[in-house]
Amino acid sequence: MPSIDPADRNYWTDESSARDDGAVSIELTYVDITRAAEVVARELPATPLQAHPLLDLALRERGIAADVVIKHEHVLPTGSFKVRGGVHLAATLTEPERAHGLVTCSTGNHAQSVAYGARLAGVRATVVMPGTAPAVKRDAVAALGAEVLVRGASLGEAAEAARAHAASSGGSFICPTDPRIVLGHATAYGELFGQAAAAGTPLDAVLVPIGSGTGAAGACLVRDALAPGCRIIGVQSAAAPAGWQSWRSGRIEQAPSTTRASGLATTTGYELTQRLLRGRLDDFLLVTDDDIDTAARLLASRAHTLAEGAGAAALAGLIASGPGARGLVAVMCTGANASADEIARLAAA
Ligand SMILES: Cc1ncc(COP(=O)(O)O)c(C=O)c1O
Repeated sequence: MPSIDPADRNYWTDESSARDDGAVSIELTYVDITRAAEVVARELPATPLQAHPLLDLALRERGIAADVVIKHEHVLPTGSFKVRGGVHLAATLTEPERAHGLVTCSTGNHAQSVAYGARLAGVRATVVMPGTAPAVKRDAVAALGAEVLVRGASLGEAAEAARAHAASSGGSFICPTDPRIVLGHATAYGELFGQAAAAGTPLDAVLVPIGSGTGAAGACLVRDALAPGCRIIGVQSAAAPAGWQSWRSGRIEQAPSTTRASGLATTTGYELTQRLLRGRLDDFLLVTDDDIDTAARLLASRAHTLAEGAGAAALAGLIASGPGARGLVAVMCTGANASADEIARLAAA
C-alpha cells in the first residue's frame, strides 16, 4: 500500500547535480517521514542503539569525553541503512516504474537497496556500477536478482551510463537522492530519537556519514521535528569531498573521488540533499581514509562490529572532534559490507 499518492507529488523526475528539474523543489515533511516509517516498519526490524563500554575506554584514551551510543544500522538486510530507502521506494512505485522496471547507479549499497525493493515489489531492476565498486557488492546486487552492468570508472560516469540505459530501455532512472529514498532513510532517525527519548536520554549530537547526503538530510528533517536542540554533524572522506565543498560554497561542486570507502565515493554534490542540508546541518567534518580505518578497527575490536569504511566514518568524525565532543552522542554505523581486501587491511595493522 503506497504511503504517498504518486499523483500528488512530483517525486518521479530525475534529480541530478546538473539540473534542477522538479524533484529538487519539493518539500519533504516530517509527516511524510512518519508515513514512510509505517511502511519501513512493516518490512524491517528496528536497529539496536547501544553503548559499548570498551569502546568508551578507547575513546577516553583519545581524549573524547562524550558518552557514545552506536546506532547499528549495519545489521539490516543488505547490510546497510540504505535498504530503508529501497523498501519505501517499493511501496511508492508508479505504474510506469512497475511496468518498465528501474534503472539506477551505485557503488553498492544503494544498488542493493534498489534491488531489494524491486524484488519486494516484483519489478525488474538494472544497476549500473562503476568498475571501482567492490566485487562483493556487485555479487550481492546480482544475488538479489537485479541485472548488474559495470560501466565507467567513477560513480559520476556510472550515473551517465545509467541515464543512457534508462533512456534506451524505457526503464525509470532512480536517482540515489530520489525523495522517496530520502524519506526511507530518514526513518532511521525517527527510530533513533524515539529510542533515545524512551530511554530518557536525549541526544546532544548525532554523527552521520555523508556521500550523497540522503541520510544526513533525513537526520536534519527528523531532528527539526523531534529534537531541535540536538546537533547533526556530517562526516565525509577528504578523498571524496564534493558534498563538503558544495555545502561550504552553497553551490553544487564536483570533485574527484579517491576514497577507499566505496559508500562515500561520490563525485558531486546533489541538489536536493544540499538544499536540505544548507542551514540545517550543524557541522560537516572531513576525515582521512586512515582515520576511517582506525575507527573501523575500533568498532571491530571494541564494539563487536564489522563495519565497512562508510559505516565507520561517523566514528572517525567523532575521534577527529577530539575533546570538543561532549554530552551524549549517537554515532551512525551505517554499513557492514566490507570487502575481503578491506578486512585484510584492517587486520594487518
Ligand atoms: C554504508 C554507507 N554509509 C553511508 C553512506 C552515505 O550515505 P548518503 O549517500 O546517503 O550520504 C553510504 C552511501 O552509499 C553507505 O553505503
